Amino acid sequence: MWPFKKKQDDDDFPLLTMRDKFDIDMHTVLEIEKESFDYPWNKGEFVDVLRGGGCINIERQQGEVVGYLCFSPARYGAELKSVAVRRSLRRRGIGTKLMTGMKNNVQLGDRIMACVSDRNTTAHVFLRSCGMKAISIREKHYDNGDDAYVFSWRSL
Ligand SMILES: CC(C)(COP(=O)(O)OP(=O)(O)OC[C@H]1O[C@@H](n2cnc3c(N)ncnc32)[C@H](O)[C@@H]1OP(=O)(O)O)[C@@H](O)C(=O)NCCC(=O)NCCS
Repeated sequence: MWPFKKKQDDDDFPLLTMRDKFDIDMHTVLEIEKESFDYPWNKGEFVDVLRGGGCINIERQQGEVVGYLCFSPARYGAELKSVAVRRSLRRRGIGTKLMTGMKNNVQLGDRIMACVSDRNTTAHVFLRSCGMKAISIREKHYDNGDDAYVFSWRSL
């Protein structure tokens, strides 16, 4: 249950919060978002997650943001809203590291859930590699009519 058992604010998983200069990092987050999704979020959508008590974990290399993971509180634990890595730096474990950071933030027994388009097979393989399981399908979940797979992981 909320709140997270450990507020992340360490060097491994710097936490982007409302109080930080997130405009600087947000610029790069939005760039990565654009190169990663057909329907990218805008800044307002990220800010809404932060205002609702959510987090954006960012991964940097040589000071540059190379990936981020956005999650929000839920009654069962946390909902993974989005995770993306610079296209040129994928398949190097950055996504897995961000997922590990989120898992370390939830309480024992809590769940992390994620909805992913049925077309995003890369995300399916990635989430499975991170220990998440597809538990159901939500038909026509997205505005464009795509179905969503619901993935789940429990902290044990
Ligand atoms: C999904 C995403 C975040 C993965 O990030 P990443 O840093 O490349 O992931 P990792 O390097 O940690 O990959 C971990 C494992 O996931 C699987 N995987 C990741 N990308 C894959 C791909 N393109 N094809 C097949 N398997 C893949 C592999 O099993 C991989 O392990 P391996 O490299 O040892 O084979 C990245 O591809 C991305 O930004 N995609 C666009 C945005 C998106 O779809 N996000 C998911 C929405 S929830």
